[in-house]
Amino acid sequence: MENLIPDLDILDRNKELTEEVKTTGDYNSGKKRKLYIESYGCQMNFSDSEIVASILHNEGFDTTSDIAQADLVFLNTCSIREKAEQTVRYRLNHINGFKKKKPELMVGVLGCMAERLKTKLLEEEKIVDLVAGPDAYRDLPQLIAQVDEGAKAVNTFLSREETYADISPVRLNSNGVTAFISIMRGCDNMCSFCVVPFTRGRERSRDPHSILAEAKDLFDRGFREVTLLGQNVDSYKWSEEENNKARLEKKGVDQVVNFANLLEMVAQVNPDLRVRFSTSHPKDITDEVLHTMAKYENICKNIHLPVQSGSSRILELMNRGYTREWYLERAKSIRTILGDDCGITSDMIAGFCTETEEEHKETLAVMDEVQYDYSFMFFYSERPGTLAAKKFTDDIPVDVKKRRLEEIIAKQSETSLARYTKDIGKKYKVLIEGTSRRSDDFLQGRTSSNKVVIFAKENKKKGEYVNVLVESCTQGTLLGKIVD
Ligand code: SAH
Ligand code: SF4
Ligand code: F3S
Repeated sequence: MENLIPDLDILDRNKELTEEVKTTGDYNSGKKRKLYIESYGCQMNFSDSEIVASILHNEGFDTTSDIAQADLVFLNTCSIREKAEQTVRYRLNHINGFKKKKPELMVGVLGCMAERLKTKLLEEEKIVDLVAGPDAYRDLPQLIAQVDEGAKAVNTFLSREETYADISPVRLNSNGVTAFISIMRGCDNMCSFCVVPFTRGRERSRDPHSILAEAKDLFDRGFREVTLLGQNVDSYKWSEEENNKARLEKKGVDQVVNFANLLEMVAQVNPDLRVRFSTSHPKDITDEVLHTMAKYENICKNIHLPVQSGSSRILELMNRGYTREWYLERAKSIRTILGDDCGITSDMIAGFCTETEEEHKETLAVMDEVQYDYSFMFFYSERPGTLAAKKFTDDIPVDVKKRRLEEIIAKQSETSLARYTKDIGKKYKVLIEGTSRRSDDFLQGRTSSNKVVIFAKENKKKGEYVNVLVESCTQGTLLGKIVD
């Protein structure tokens, strides 16, 4: 049975962070046709939309942030929870209104929902003309041409090689300071609750040379922070041998680049370029990665290390590949090697199949022990085709799931406030990202540990580093003033 219950909306911050929708910025170079893209889900999707915009820009499309101006509307979709798919269906319904006024409007569904539902999407949502999965974006010009000729077009082929390494993304909605770089695609982990291995395919790592070139180019264009993206960055692995037999024959190189090596290479691009990464996997994160982080000041001290559950039995059912004890040992290593200031953040799922009250309490206890700066918190939503959907019954009643989630959220609010309060009176180096949303007289940036800081502008601009003395805080923001 599918879980059709919407997520709770009790903690706005959690909601805001996890259900963010981004639309295309304007990119106008006088081209004839206009593309409007909305992106749902994770940063990988936002990053993919930039690749799509780049591919289509070369084919005669500009992007617009005004749907009424668009000739082509793409929704880059997410399937992670039932709610995410429902949101897209509501949105398609709304777009139908535009299509009625402008029948030639082309509507495409990209991303994970396209991959999961394939041609079924065309049957279920009559308004859709084009369906393209995450590895099919190079084919978009041909797919659009098919629709131009009056046909419906679908490509949901998943590749073992595609990394879009050679495509330089058009930065949409950019603040000009921070950018995302995809370093790998897909996932081989098969966590039993998760749809990603089915929608994104096998894991593959991108050529480090192209990653470095992208980081250097961003730095030269004024960017000061890059976030390296992958579903499990710790399993990044690239070798000449695996990835380019031809080059191996020529040069006889057999160097394997792991994630710690890649992190070091990107950190060396420039000491003024901050490096972040996400997501780390508790079963794979190594001390080598932690020591590399400690060695470079510009590698930000924040680790997103989703625990999902604090119970070893539930973790086993989730097929996460670690126990509660293993996880706590990894968190301890982070504190030993990187100190208390290092931010640890997490994802939690409440009410997974067969979870008892005691096991739920174990999750709360892990939260107490690790002291997360913040977390993304969900209740379990069964996804068709996943291992859990096949093997287990989604047997925790919705009201119980909701109550457990509320308890997890309350615990996190308490911990966040404690963690932020600890920073009062301390001085942090902050990269300025722009003016504060609250007032033009204030600037906003982040600490190395990824906490947002707001402070009076003085004569500083975005892209600069400043030292800020923290004077007060809320549960999600530090407030301070610039000091020397
Ligand atoms: N690769 C990342 C997570 C990607 S999905 C990792 O391994 O941690 C982001 C988060 O969504 C997950 O960490 C999990 O907490 C949540 N999630 C995934 N599938 C879910 C489901 N079926 N129901 C509820 N939450 C889910
Ligand atoms: Fe999903 Fe697990 Fe892969 Fe993360 S590591 S994307 S949760 S299968
Ligand atoms: Fe969603 Fe796909 Fe990302 S399912 S979370 S958009 S990988």
